[in-house]
Amino acid sequence: MARKRIGILTGGGDCPGLNAVIRAAVRTAIRDYDFEVLGIQFGFEGLLTSSAIPLSVEAIRGILPKGGTLLRTTNRGNPFEYPAMKDGERICVDRSAECVENIHKLGIDGIIAIGGDGTLKIAQRLCDMGIPMVAVPKTIDNDLAATDYTFGFFTAVSVATEAVDRLHTTAESHDRVMILEVMGRDAGWIALYSGLAGGADIILIPEIPYTPENIISSIRTRDREGATFDLIVVAEGSKAVGGEEAYLDRRSKRLGGIAYRVADQIAQHIKHEIRVTVLGHIQRGGSPIAYDRILATRFGKAAADLLGRREFGKMVALRGDEIVSVAIKDAVSKMKYVDPQGQMVQTARSLGVSFGDGL
Ligand code: F6P
Repeated sequence: MARKRIGILTGGGDCPGLNAVIRAAVRTAIRDYDFEVLGIQFGFEGLLTSSAIPLSVEAIRGILPKGGTLLRTTNRGNPFEYPAMKDGERICVDRSAECVENIHKLGIDGIIAIGGDGTLKIAQRLCDMGIPMVAVPKTIDNDLAATDYTFGFFTAVSVATEAVDRLHTTAESHDRVMILEVMGRDAGWIALYSGLAGGADIILIPEIPYTPENIISSIRTRDREGATFDLIVVAEGSKAVGGEEAYLDRRSKRLGGIAYRVADQIAQHIKHEIRVTVLGHIQRGGSPIAYDRILATRFGKAAADLLGRREFGKMVALRGDEIVSVAIKDAVSKMKYVDPQGQMVQTARSLGVSFGDGL
């Protein structure tokens, strides 16, 4: 009998640990199920261009500690809303039927899609069209409700924490207020965790709108208590009460610049100089920490098992210390945000951290 052939793809933004997932899935697929594995390049886009490479055990050797994705990735290429030009206008066309046809032409019997909410939604729709699909959740933002943690998150937190530590010593030397802007889109997890780990004085997150007055008052209180500097960690999606997010590009909803806005809002009212650091994609690049390599490895093996057991339409997830599977359709769009009344926020408040809300 001919060997079954499966495909693996990574979609959306890259994330530390993607290669560890690919490696574990390929090894398990070959060793435990004797599958032949094709790597589909540039996410679902690769299914439209038939961009695929064979993934043998040799092809994935050495990728475990590497950041990025061997299979490359893109935020574009949704086959259901594929960008095209018509009469000089940008339009979207549905190329999903072509995508399904190419999957059959490539002789693929099942696909492991590794990606965030956008990728998961496409995976579910292709699954509804009869493509045997399983999924692995991916995001440094850790904002998917279906899983306790996503790989990449703690690497991003480690990078951000190191940045807080480094800013601490320079803040202390100059009596400055240092503002660090971190990623996380609409969820404040990276800011909250790195702020706590680095001992930030003020943490601003999307889930708790701030007022400039409350930030100023926290800084003045610390001044009175003898502190000579302040560390502020702000999540990129934070906003003032009644205000809106800061965008680098409003049309594509690319967030960025809130740290500069906060600096402008408080500069005239405090005695300290302010400096701003926007950490950006440094949080997403480079080698995953050990925790993320292990979680990614467990996810990759579990995803290959789902295909092996023909449990299609499922996504792997972490619950407690167990890897479980959930329906992709139940996982998509259910986001996980920081609970302003939750233990993490309460812990920070007990330590004197201000969230810019005056509490
Ligand atoms: O969702 C992951 C993430 O890194 C967000 O934290 C951030 O807002 C966004 O992706 C950046 O995307 P891009 O790489 O397209 O700039």
